[in-house]
Amino acid sequence: MEGIDKTNLPIHIAIIMDGNGRWAKTKGKLRVFGHQKGVKAVRNTVEGAAEIGIKYLTLYAFSTENWSRPAKEVTALMTLLVSSIHKETKTLMKNNIRLSAIGNIAKLPIKAQEKLKEAIEKTKDNSRMTLILALSYSSRWEILNAVKKIIKDGRKAEQINEDVFQQYLSTKSVPDPELLIRTSGEYRISNFLLWQIAYSELYFTNTLWPDFSKTELEKAILDYQSRERRFGKTTEQIQK
Ligand code: IPE
Ligand code: IPE
Ligand code: MG
Repeated sequence: MEGIDKTNLPIHIAIIMDGNGRWAKTKGKLRVFGHQKGVKAVRNTVEGAAEIGIKYLTLYAFSTENWSRPAKEVTALMTLLVSSIHKETKTLMKNNIRLSAIGNIAKLPIKAQEKLKEAIEKTKDNSRMTLILALSYSSRWEILNAVKKIIKDGRKAEQINEDVFQQYLSTKSVPDPELLIRTSGEYRISNFLLWQIAYSELYFTNTLWPDFSKTELEKAILDYQSRERRFGKTTEQIQK
């Protein structure tokens, strides 16, 4: 953890875990093999984040758009999700980490929903860090849902402001991420947390997700700490 300033840590880090398929391809293996290796990178990153002192870690694991992948890959991903949640609950308990999920969870296979519910219930009193899995998630889905709920609640236009709107998102009790990481050398957001990343620092790395690790996470945090977050103000105002 050399060089990390503990007084200037992001409270919330969000990660777009990308590149499993390409990682497998370079090894001459099937895409599924990349996803399996990706689970290990998740474990390392989650443990690393908790050790560093991050309070919220959101991982983009499966997008709404990912349902359009070949059925075989979707099934493999869902099976992997079930077995990983089951196996990793121990790691979460050991590390005092609470699990939570955002997205259209009702679309997941029943087995996955059950395992998820179990793990969330089991870890609900853990307090060191909250791990949020984005599953069957897309930001436009989330924002449209918020709008629908606002209308159903009969809210008047004058009652809506940023704080109120925020309360209708699935991240309602979570601060916006200060840092968003995307692996695999792609420079896009792919429908992830569009509202919440309005002022996030973006960090892109060519590393493919299965090769991501605690060291890579530390690199991203160091980079974050070298930035000046101005929020529209001038440098002089910030340094006062
Ligand atoms: C990320 O890796 C995992 C998911 C999106 C589920 P990919 O499967 O997107 O891997 P690439 O981008 O094709 O290499
Ligand atoms: C984004 O990765 C979604 C997840 C990491 C779960 P994709 O691989 O699906 O994104 P695109 O298709 O390259 O934008
Ligand atoms: Mg991808």
